[in-house]
Amino acid sequence: VGKKVVVFGSFVVDLTGRTRTLPVPGQTVMGSTFVMGPGGKGSNQAVAAHRAGADVTLVTKVGKDVFGKVATDFYEKEGMNTEYIFVDEEKETGCALITVEEGTAQNEIVVISGACGNITEEDIEKSRALIESSDILLLQLEINFDALYKVIDIAHAAGVTIVVNTAPAAELPAEILKKLDIVTPNETEAQILTGVKIENGDDAKKAAEVLMEKGVKQVVITLGSMGAFAMNNEKYELVERLSVDAIDTTGAGDAFNGGFVMALAEGKDLFTALRYGNVTGALSVTRKGTAPSMPDREAIDRFYAEVYG
Ligand code: RIB
Ligand code: NA
Repeated sequence: VGKKVVVFGSFVVDLTGRTRTLPVPGQTVMGSTFVMGPGGKGSNQAVAAHRAGADVTLVTKVGKDVFGKVATDFYEKEGMNTEYIFVDEEKETGCALITVEEGTAQNEIVVISGACGNITEEDIEKSRALIESSDILLLQLEINFDALYKVIDIAHAAGVTIVVNTAPAAELPAEILKKLDIVTPNETEAQILTGVKIENGDDAKKAAEVLMEKGVKQVVITLGSMGAFAMNNEKYELVERLSVDAIDTTGAGDAFNGGFVMALAEGKDLFTALRYGNVTGALSVTRKGTAPSMPDREAIDRFYAEVYG
């Protein structure tokens, strides 16, 4: 039994269409298949951590509509806690318009956060005891920032380990960065946070150093085809991208974060957790969709043993 993980973040319904070529602005292209399913970075990461075996509670918000039911139905099926799925009286459940290109597995995403962009003081107060009693809090940047900062303050005051997946890309104020134990940007997000252009492992190291100078304790940077990087005050390491048959890369970062946090919750060190993240992310790419594509613990352990021995 590991430590208690809380994910405070977004739920949106992913509306995913597949096409042979992504349209350019003003262009119409024909697509092949359409799938509707649970998504949102917060929810995806919670599902990934749950399937990976972590004790995780998701805090999110939906609307009073059919999309909101997509969330609760899915969590019930997964055996996840639904006690902290708040319901907004007016705002609609968020959605993401996703287009996936068949040959390359690349995607384009527009997120409309809806209810989960309307987390109120009251919602936060209802979650306070949960946050304060957790060991690890995992956050992303898809909820309203006033709520995000408030949640960080509560967790920081309670001595909870705070992990922020800084996606989608945004700048974060210095007062916030210094309260964070771990940040997990991808290369473009790291560039926006630090101003360092990342083209190789050395650049990732430079960006990580900038973040650590700003007071972040440990840094993980996912680098797409270049793999994934981690650094603490003792050492740094770059692990290679694992080669898999890519079907859909949407949500790979979320899978990475879920697997990473599961490993931390089990007391594994930063660099072992980096490898669990890498394995979880790679497996998710071999299946369509976001939350539904998250691998279970058995698949993670099998692939981990195969690639890292
Ligand atoms: O990271 C992938 C997720 O980003 C998708 O599920 C979509 O909902 C967007 O939030
Ligand atoms: Na996937």
